[in-house]
Amino acid sequence: MSENVILSTHGLHKSYGKGDGRFEALRGVNLEIKQGESVAIIGKSGSGKSTLMHLLALLDKPTKGSIELDGENTSKLRQKQLNQLRNKKFGFVFQSFFMNANDTVLNNVILPLKIAGVRPGERRRKAMHALKIVGLDDKAKNKANDLSGGQKQRVCIARAIVNDPEIIFADEPTGNLDSVTGDRVEKILFDLNHKKGITLIIVTHDPDLANKCDRQIRIADGRVVNGKAVEDEDIVYAKKPPTYYTHDSGDTDADGMLDVLEEDA
Ligand SMILES: Nc1ncnc2c1ncn2[C@@H]1O[C@H](COP(=O)(O)OP(=O)(O)OP(=O)(O)O)[C@@H](O)[C@H]1O
Ligand SMILES: [Mg+2]
Repeated sequence: MSENVILSTHGLHKSYGKGDGRFEALRGVNLEIKQGESVAIIGKSGSGKSTLMHLLALLDKPTKGSIELDGENTSKLRQKQLNQLRNKKFGFVFQSFFMNANDTVLNNVILPLKIAGVRPGERRRKAMHALKIVGLDDKAKNKANDLSGGQKQRVCIARAIVNDPEIIFADEPTGNLDSVTGDRVEKILFDLNHKKGITLIIVTHDPDLANKCDRQIRIADGRVVNGKAVEDEDIVYAKKPPTYYTHDSGDTDADGMLDVLEEDA
């Protein structure tokens, strides 16, 4: 894992509504995420996890504070630049972000490439490759709507990875799935993290999934806490020893990851 900070937040605040109805969903979040890390964002319902995730993914703007991506302050960027940056560097696996249900699986996966202006032949090749990774190349021509919930989630992953993103944001990626399908989705995400070094940021209520991540960031009432309450504006960066995801096929990936770590050291 490289020690480069890929994403950081500085005094992040987010309020919704006005006057009496105003609600402070985030109250001064400072955090750092390093390139190649897998991070779980955890906390109770309503604590601000999805709000934080949307801000980190540059889908929404903070009321106060800033976000740096690759050391660059994103608050000065125009909407068009933000859109380009997102399309190039990020992949999303959001349940509410679902695709065009009446279009084919292939066309749904192709979309980010179309936006990026990739040529049609190349688009198809890359999209089929992404579908193969998630084991759905045989469903390319089906309507997205005709797939099962777990298959839809895998199409979301295919679409998230088709552009070779640096960071994948996943909000409850296994929330509505049975345990077997959930395990499969998890395995795909952690394989991408281990083999391709893609940074993973996952919002989850599932303690097992959270424990598979290198690190957990706990949110309570719009603040980062790690077991105890912390002061607003405190920088919290609790690093625990990485836990590696063991694959069905043995420990080869975990070993490979350790080799990479040793090279870095
Ligand atoms: N658009 C909005 N307008 C007003 N309040 C909002 C809006 N979006 C979120 N909130 C409020 O902000 C708080 C944090 O919401 P958020 O969706 O980030 O929670 P969460 O931690 O993701 O919860 P869950 O685990 O249930 O998904 C909640 O109290 C929610 O009601
Ligand atoms: Mg949420």
